[in-house]
Amino acid sequence: MRDANWKGTPVERMLRSCRGEPVDRPPVWLMRQAGRYLPEYRKVREGVSFMDMCKDVDRAVEVSLQPLDLLGTEAVIFFSDIFTPIPGMDVEIDFAPGPIVADPIRTAAQVEALRQPDLQSAVPFVFEILKTLRSEIDSRSIPLLGFAGAPFTLAAYLVEGQGSKNFSFLKNMMICEPEIMRLLLDKLTEMTVSYLNAQIDAGAQVVQLFDTWAGILGRDDYREWVLPYHKKIASQLNREQAPLILYVNNAAHVMEEIFSVESDVVSLDWRMNIDEAVRCAKGRVSLQGNLDPCSLAATPECIREMVQSIAAEAEPARGHVLNLGHGCLPETPVEGVRAFIEAAKGL
Ligand code: CP3
Repeated sequence: MRDANWKGTPVERMLRSCRGEPVDRPPVWLMRQAGRYLPEYRKVREGVSFMDMCKDVDRAVEVSLQPLDLLGTEAVIFFSDIFTPIPGMDVEIDFAPGPIVADPIRTAAQVEALRQPDLQSAVPFVFEILKTLRSEIDSRSIPLLGFAGAPFTLAAYLVEGQGSKNFSFLKNMMICEPEIMRLLLDKLTEMTVSYLNAQIDAGAQVVQLFDTWAGILGRDDYREWVLPYHKKIASQLNREQAPLILYVNNAAHVMEEIFSVESDVVSLDWRMNIDEAVRCAKGRVSLQGNLDPCSLAATPECIREMVQSIAAEAEPARGHVLNLGHGCLPETPVEGVRAFIEAAKGL
């Protein structure tokens, strides 16, 4: 909802947009805004492994702030990965560059052995990073975002052992050993709720749940293996303190299900039609998105037109946060990101 006369800080603009209260224009940030497309990121990352960088509070804080200082985004997402809490469950992982699981989880014994991590001792650096970021950006009234991977996407990598095209091992477990899969998703759900609530306690003002792979399922499977876990997470988070953004990639075929979770915001990928999403939302949630990241290769003028058209389409929604439909890519041109942010601020 628009109110041209509204005035407030970027924190207020973000929180009000998430909750559907009137603001002057949508706030803007980008998924994966800290990353390899930025030469300044590559410099900090030089000679350090990705996992070590996630644990290195100074480096992680520095790269989290780069998109704010260099490009002017209106939110900071702390630098980490959806797999950061997984070693705390006694699973050995590495990145090359995507996550690789040393011993993929395929048996009941392996699922039973998964521990609920004591997060404060397993990932103390996460909370340290969040606290430091809040102290750096509070004076600038910039909101801090936390995030976690959704159970299905985490399970997809844990069972496959790495990214996959067909996810055959995962689907095999769903079909042949559903009770093992259910226990795995239950354990990941419990961890995710604790992890996000702990991020909120440490200073995250909005949290985003990433379900990158849930879209590989048909609707009936989605209702069984994804939806109940989203609902459980949405109901157990401290949402008075921090609104929840739900992102499901490649999932236009389960739009009704995504909206039925009643998160505060639904983050749309670029394949999702905004008109349809507005209708589906029925005023219950705000929208985020949804420029195709590849469109950032266009000219600034072209990017501005695309941003204006997205904002106009999302205007009837209860609230709108401008973002991409998926994360920035290593090949994303910095100039394109800059043009996207400028265009949003000019709305
Ligand atoms: O948005 C941000 O700026 C915060 C940082 C962030 C990263 N990963 C940093 C990262 C976030 C929010 C993520 C989420 C994430 N990680 C998801 C869900 C969102 C999505 O993109 O679908 C998934 C599926 C992962 C798993 C993952 N981590 C993959 C597949 C890869 C390798 C491929 C790639 O895109 O880089 C990673 C590594 C990773 N995570 C990097 C970064 C900056 C690259 C590491 C490097 O510097 O080499």
